[in-house]
Amino acid sequence: MSMTAIVLAAGEGTRMKSRHPKVAHKLLDKPLVWWPVNAAREAGADRIVVVVGHGADEVRAIFANDPDVECVEQTERLGTGHAMMCVRDALGAFQGPTVVLYGDTPLMRAETIRSLVNETKANHNACTVLTMSPADPTGYGRIKRDANGGVVAIIEHKDCTPEEQATLTECNSGIYCFCGRRLTENIDKIGNDNAQGEYYLTDMVGIYHEMGEPVSALLAADDSELLGVNSRVQLAQVTKIMQRRINEQLMASGVTMLDPDQVWVGPEVSVGQDSELLPQTMLWGKTSIGEDCVIGPNTRLTNVTVADGASVEETVGYDTVIESGVTVGPRAYLRPGTHLLKNAHVGTHVEIKNSTIGEGSKVPHLSYIGDTQMGSGVNIGAGSITCNYDGVFKHRTTIGNDVFVGSDTMMVAPVAIGDGALVGASSCITEDVPAGALAVERSEQVMIEGYATKRMSRLKEEKARGERAER
Ligand code: UD1
Ligand code: MG
Repeated sequence: MSMTAIVLAAGEGTRMKSRHPKVAHKLLDKPLVWWPVNAAREAGADRIVVVVGHGADEVRAIFANDPDVECVEQTERLGTGHAMMCVRDALGAFQGPTVVLYGDTPLMRAETIRSLVNETKANHNACTVLTMSPADPTGYGRIKRDANGGVVAIIEHKDCTPEEQATLTECNSGIYCFCGRRLTENIDKIGNDNAQGEYYLTDMVGIYHEMGEPVSALLAADDSELLGVNSRVQLAQVTKIMQRRINEQLMASGVTMLDPDQVWVGPEVSVGQDSELLPQTMLWGKTSIGEDCVIGPNTRLTNVTVADGASVEETVGYDTVIESGVTVGPRAYLRPGTHLLKNAHVGTHVEIKNSTIGEGSKVPHLSYIGDTQMGSGVNIGAGSITCNYDGVFKHRTTIGNDVFVGSDTMMVAPVAIGDGALVGASSCITEDVPAGALAVERSEQVMIEGYATKRMSRLKEEKARGERAER
């Protein structure tokens, strides 16, 4: 549907006690303001404007690579009505349904936005207000209705009489759908003659009522969508709700969780059927997990693609591709540019960076593989390392198919090891190894028969005679 969404995010958020603007704080792996923007996008907004003010540069940076979002700066915070005037001045008239959302209210669902827009269109409303009836209405704007139940005005808590404060319990959520054309034409009618000396966007409702323009209120089906974040305690509460929402959706689609309270999944992650997420797992960014995978425990994957039937245990990974049947961990570190081909194995205390590990190849224990192209069927012995950095430049290592690298091997790049080669344990490989060759680089073993036995009895005798004091 064609519509504009305006996300108000200029406020400071003093109660966060932070050097950063409130809406830049993270809920799961996304800034607070990302959530309403995304809900608007999901609801079909073709134009999304974020009103920035406090910490404007930090908020702009969040959307630097998002072509759907424009930021408009409100240099003085003169109220929600003033924020909308800034948008109008910056963008010119906006036509069609115009939804107003708050940057600090991240639980709003796309379907709620859609129903607000549909209500507005169906009644040709100048404005539809999303309302709620919280247990404690203190601080909220109150909905005033006439004898027939028609919405007459919104009165801010501070501008209510004590009687209105007690009796008007239906509250303004601060989320609206306006008719863009009528809003542009009439927004200048808002004044600031009120308890807070602010331009209240809420005044539009009373203004329309007096003009005879249709206005209505839609009671939110789920109040929790309207929870705002003003403090870090509320940030934690909202995070818990979002975590549950996402995890319940995943479980409903066929994902197993031993303890969903200990699994955190970002909004852009997908997990396939019959996969299992174990405790202390975090899946961030555009991570995608296939079917029949086991992920965790203690695993954090960011922008990692995992194909069907893989298992990733106690691992940290970024920008990595893991093909089907691969096993990783426990305790591996997969850095950007890692590509693990089918049925490969990366074991314990292994770090891989910018490298391809070929089909069925194994790097089982205590190794660092960086800037390496590795073929299939390779075995890398424990403690082997590609020495890819000379202090200034990075160099590549190439390992062919079916290579066997003995334990504790240093491969000093640039270096290549040919197909089927064998490298003796503890070698420091500085020259290319031809296919099928054996390369050993170590000094010869020396043997002196009986030496150890004689030495031990000599030392024991010295001790018995008290010739040497123990220290
Ligand atoms: C507002 C509503 C109130 C409603 C409540 C719901 C008005 C006048 N009142 O009150 O009826 O019950 O929300 O939470 O609108 N903002 C700007 N620029 C400004 C002022 C605010 O961008 O100049 C942004 C804030 O960052 C915030 C949102 O608008 O995201 C709401 O502002 P806030 O000051 O919290 O309004 P309330 O007093 O809570
Ligand atoms: Mg508020």
